[in-house]
Amino acid sequence: MESQTPDSSYEASRDAPLPLDVLILAAGLGTRMRSGVAKVLHKLGNRPLIAHVCRTAAALAPRHIYVVVGHQAAQVEAAVRDELGADAAVTFITQVQQRGTGDAVLAAREVLESSQHHDSSSTLLVLSGDVPFVRAETLGALVHQHRTHRGRGAACTLLSVRLDDPTGYGRIVRDEENRFSRIVEQKDATAEEKLITEINAGIYCFETLKLFPALARVTPANAQGEYYLTDVPAILHRDGDDASIFPHTDAREVSGINTRVELADFERALRIRTVRRLMLDSGVTVIDPYNTYVDAEVVIGRDTTLHPNTHIEGRTRIGEDCVIQSGARIVNSRIGSNVTIKNNSLIIDSEIADNCTVGPFAHLRMNTRLEEDAHIGNFVEVKKSRIGRRSKAMHLTYLGDANIGERTNIGAGTVTCNYDGKNKHQTTIESDVKIGSDTMLVAPVRVGANSVTAAGSVVTADVPANTLVAGVPAKIKKHLQIEETAPAENQNAGN
Ligand code: UD1
Ligand code: CA
Repeated sequence: MESQTPDSSYEASRDAPLPLDVLILAAGLGTRMRSGVAKVLHKLGNRPLIAHVCRTAAALAPRHIYVVVGHQAAQVEAAVRDELGADAAVTFITQVQQRGTGDAVLAAREVLESSQHHDSSSTLLVLSGDVPFVRAETLGALVHQHRTHRGRGAACTLLSVRLDDPTGYGRIVRDEENRFSRIVEQKDATAEEKLITEINAGIYCFETLKLFPALARVTPANAQGEYYLTDVPAILHRDGDDASIFPHTDAREVSGINTRVELADFERALRIRTVRRLMLDSGVTVIDPYNTYVDAEVVIGRDTTLHPNTHIEGRTRIGEDCVIQSGARIVNSRIGSNVTIKNNSLIIDSEIADNCTVGPFAHLRMNTRLEEDAHIGNFVEVKKSRIGRRSKAMHLTYLGDANIGERTNIGAGTVTCNYDGKNKHQTTIESDVKIGSDTMLVAPVRVGANSVTAAGSVVTADVPANTLVAGVPAKIKKHLQIEETAPAENQNAGN
């Protein structure tokens, strides 16, 4: 028995000085998904199901997390590592053949019993990789009840909930004194047992030392020919140990996902929760909450408006007073305040400063940065480029690997020819430049400040400051006086 509380343990268990380990079952294929992809890798709110469960488990600050993997083990392990971080105290256990939830836990026996942690006092919290909404607070309360049951703790505590339609779930059979008797699986239940609405959520605490001897006695003598973890509580109970029930009221929270229909239901619930939080806590206007798609980690400022059918994903942050119009998709990007993203624009891994406008039909990607008051218009693609303050590229343009100064205007149909077939090259356009319509900038190339390229120029060599170039290839036609080059705005092709 450990003599002190591990400082990492969850607050609900602080009064009981027992270490907590978590075991997550994630080896199954999930046949009912009818998928080539293991169920726990299916995404909810853009994160794999298993990642949701891992995050909740980690919030309990357990001593160790064990994950039983099988189907697509390498991908499941990667998803877990991705969520928990490379240094997390997590061990993967391979269940070679999926012979049931009992077999899955049994696969962990050797690792758990040989672990330096194994002792009579430890509590093992068993979770399923397909129950993504369960909250750490609920699990903390479950652990607390398990450890304080009748003043000495239970051998096993299982979380139950009542469902209007319990079809498919294991039913909890209680005795005459309303105490736990056993769990009967749907496929093994009699017609009478099927009427029971209290179900096993598949979330349990076990006294680690009692679990494995009982599990070793489980046989596959049932309708599915599987080793059921759900037989263990009854075995313990028959041996005179306490199997306690933790009745929970929020069915959605502890429900599992078995089909794509259920996955879509959960997705919708998560989405509504996120959008409501944005409206209630952050002061965001959402025109149609049921048709707005925002990931849980996105941050949006006050008085920003989201139009219907907007998709805001990943670690995106949007400032105040912005307008995000229909069809916009913004991924892992940072957007300042007072920015308008017009219809059907795609923005990925980019940064947009205050007062910019983008779109309609614009594509920004790969660390593009728009400085304040920059404007990117329709059918413009910008890749790995910086667009300086008050500069504009309003129509039909490709800017790749470009660095553009301030107040520069990029005319319609301009292309930075950045790729020579092997390598990418840089284009630099300094401040107050006017790039004429249909200019080809063959990189690497630089256009100096205040210069002008005539329509249709193919610029193959650097253009000095204050010059006008024209032709194919572009030649210097004229040296410009500084005063001839009025600010680029409202001039040249388009604005
Ligand atoms: C299980 C319970 C049922 C409960 C329901 C709650 C059993 C026998 N039944 O049924 O009482 O009402 O959960 O959601 O436990 N897994 C493995 N290896 C296996 C089999 C399953 O790792 O060999 C994993 C799955 O990947 C999944 C979890 O265990 O994450 C649950 O398995 P699943 O097949 O979904 O169990 P249910 O039939 O839903
Ligand atoms: Ca399930």
